[in-house]
Amino acid sequence: MKKMGLNELREAYLEFFRSKEHLTLPSFPLVPKNDNSLLLINAGMAPLKPYFTGVQAPPKSRIATCQKCIRTGDIENVGKTSRHGTFFEMLGNFSFGDYFKKEVIPWAWEFVTEVLKLSKDKLYVTIYLDDDEAFEIWKNSTDIDPTRIFRLGKEDNFWEIGQGPCGPCSEIHFDRGEGKITTVEEFLKAADEDRVVEFWNLVFTQFDKDELGNYNKLAHPNIDTGMGLERIATIMQGVNSIFEVDTIKAILEEISKVSGIEYGKDRNNDISLRVITDHIRSVTFMIGDGILPSNEGRGYVLRRLLRRAARHGKILGIDHIFLHQICETVILNSYGAYPELKEKEDYIKKVIKLEEERFGETIDAGIQILNDYIEEIKNNNEKILSGEKAFKLYDTYGFPLELTEEILEEKGIKLDIDGFNKEMTEQRERARAAREESNYMGLENTILNKLPKELETEFVGYTKLDVESKITFMVVNDRAATSIMEGEEGVIITEKTPFYAEMGGQVGDVGFIIGKEGKAEVLDCKKNLAGKTLHFVKVIQGKLEKDEEVKLAVDDIRRNNIRKNHTATHILHKALKEVLGEHVQQAGSYVDEERLRFDFNHFTALTEEELKSIEKLVNNKVMSVLTVKTDIMTIEEAKENGAIALFDDKYKEDVRVVCVGEFSKELCGGTHVGNSGEIGLFKIISETGVAAGIRRIEAFTGIRAIDYMEEKENVIKNLSHILKCGEKDIINKVNAQITEMKIKDKEMNELKKQLASGAEDELLNNLKEVNGIKLISGVMEDIDGDALRDLGDKLRDKIGDGLVLLGSINEGKVQFLAMASKGAVAKGVHCGKIIKEVATVAGGGGGGRPDMAQAGGKLPEKVKEAIQKGEELLANLSK
Ligand code: ALA
Repeated sequence: MKKMGLNELREAYLEFFRSKEHLTLPSFPLVPKNDNSLLLINAGMAPLKPYFTGVQAPPKSRIATCQKCIRTGDIENVGKTSRHGTFFEMLGNFSFGDYFKKEVIPWAWEFVTEVLKLSKDKLYVTIYLDDDEAFEIWKNSTDIDPTRIFRLGKEDNFWEIGQGPCGPCSEIHFDRGEGKITTVEEFLKAADEDRVVEFWNLVFTQFDKDELGNYNKLAHPNIDTGMGLERIATIMQGVNSIFEVDTIKAILEEISKVSGIEYGKDRNNDISLRVITDHIRSVTFMIGDGILPSNEGRGYVLRRLLRRAARHGKILGIDHIFLHQICETVILNSYGAYPELKEKEDYIKKVIKLEEERFGETIDAGIQILNDYIEEIKNNNEKILSGEKAFKLYDTYGFPLELTEEILEEKGIKLDIDGFNKEMTEQRERARAAREESNYMGLENTILNKLPKELETEFVGYTKLDVESKITFMVVNDRAATSIMEGEEGVIITEKTPFYAEMGGQVGDVGFIIGKEGKAEVLDCKKNLAGKTLHFVKVIQGKLEKDEEVKLAVDDIRRNNIRKNHTATHILHKALKEVLGEHVQQAGSYVDEERLRFDFNHFTALTEEELKSIEKLVNNKVMSVLTVKTDIMTIEEAKENGAIALFDDKYKEDVRVVCVGEFSKELCGGTHVGNSGEIGLFKIISETGVAAGIRRIEAFTGIRAIDYMEEKENVIKNLSHILKCGEKDIINKVNAQITEMKIKDKEMNELKKQLASGAEDELLNNLKEVNGIKLISGVMEDIDGDALRDLGDKLRDKIGDGLVLLGSINEGKVQFLAMASKGAVAKGVHCGKIIKEVATVAGGGGGGRPDMAQAGGKLPEKVKEAIQKGEELLANLSK
């Protein structure tokens, strides 16, 4: 056996399959494309599904990859064992209707025994129960001892997830133990005890499972294999755990260094060290692929992993943020195969740092909520925090359960852990149900995604806006059709088209398709999953027929506006890099005929000056009338030329590079103006934040920008008209009016006070004695609730012992107030009861304490009567 490093192993595998005429591709990003059934790529075959189902033609019928994968199903076990991890790399070789069992089995054996040089008496193979074909090939085309082949059932040796391509499989296992295993029972026991480890799964994808559970035989069977790189590395390096594999150990050791905690000395510390080691790998790769922490979907997975790692850092006693530092070691050990990590290193570190800081804030916020819960529990004389509340803290606020337990313990409160677990199970079940419901192929099963492969459309829309061509396919109501009649909607495919199909953030074109006997409006233009151009139409006159020659004409005014916005987006992108720094990366973009929207990574809101500089720089490039040129070149040439590339552009052979003078160079398939001068004017209309670390700029160009400036100008003109002053004096005039208003407010308050004290005197003069209790009562106008209370306080002080009962009518609203001295309360006065009956008279309600109560009412005309009622109540008060 050869001792091989993880990076070396990866290369050996890819090299081996290159020698078997495979095209090797770099790993696809972790974010699935056009596949809603998956949050994250979880197997080598996942990004290749369109090739397996035949929706798209593969670049070659034999492909091999090393794919970055994330599986979080077992996240609770990560750290606790030495086997589980969320991040792993999967080596895979794939055949799309090319080779099958009789090639793949001997190759796998050759690689394992001749390249890796694993000893044949350490290897076992399993096959599916009735797969005699596989058995024969293993027996006759390799030199394995046939007594080392075991047949297992569907659970072990049939690979499927939901619907879609599936089939029996054959697995290769390595035995760490001594002595030969001779029976299936012994084999299963050894596997259970981790003596035998499976490391390579060869799936013979020969069925397509449909919605009804039928296994339909595929016309061209495929091969899908998967070998866990970390797992084979543990075997090759003679270690027992993935955490001892060279590249992963380097990360763990770095964490040991930062925390001062040695590995292998304490079970709990080891768990924390392993959790951080695994999670920081997932986190680094996820951010490198453009995922950002958030509260849903992939972003939530990332947030959980990052926070879990941060928390285990705290458990190890690390009292500062440190994950961004560990991420350097991840990158150092992986960038050879994943250059994107190195390219984005600064950015990845920044995102990690920001989130770790935020987590600190979350902890603070969580403690506050928990303290409120604790207070409530104490007030109610209880001793237990409900599982529901603890789960809410954990799930909604990201507050760690252990921390909840710790704090509760200090306060002598227990946690309903069963209740918590129940909530957790329920949530898991909901998640599982959601997963199972989704079709694993994730492709919309409509005819639009199953169009004949030979249909091709040539796009001529970079240079022409109308063209004559032939209709090659039509769809109406999800069925192939030979004509579309007036009033009907459908989809048309033609040999050539000037219509741009929505892509790269640029909306699809609209326009008309005109035939001999009819005319259709093109409402939108999009590509299907296989990249075929679909014109979504409504026939507005006559009919259009299949095979007919038609004229396709794009709405040129709209297209011109889109082109202006798209080119302006490129100039803006470059201007942002110049003004804010090279870290600025496109995070999203949307361009239509109205405006452009550009999302990018940046950590703080832009200042007024920054925005001005950016806008000025863009307009400068507009006014410099720069020629816009497009070239087709290889991706290497584009990179050498310094073109800005985005995540998506990675795998195409030839790319299109759009240059605006020498200023901006960007990979792009969109449509652009011929000269930057056509943009006319660029005007930023807003700058906002859309997610942590992502800013958004929206802008107008051309006539729309001029209209926008004109709207602003009109506002100024109107203001100057209303204020009756010149435009230059508007600010002074408004300031002067604000000052004047403040003075008037002050005067008014003075007057109100005088009125109130006048009222106070009048009320005091009205002092009566009813039923042996002093009473001041009356109805006030135009005083609000606060003033009424002030007045009440003063009157009560003045009468010393007695009852104050006031009503007020202010802006149509009615309020009542009753206040009683201690002496009056002792004599049986209860303000709350009095006010209740009083307010009822005026159509309201309310209540309060014996010594003070307030209430509202609805009927101003009844206020006097209501107060009268109060006096009666006092008169009838039984002593
Ligand atoms: N797709 C197979 C797996 O993930 C190879 O095991």
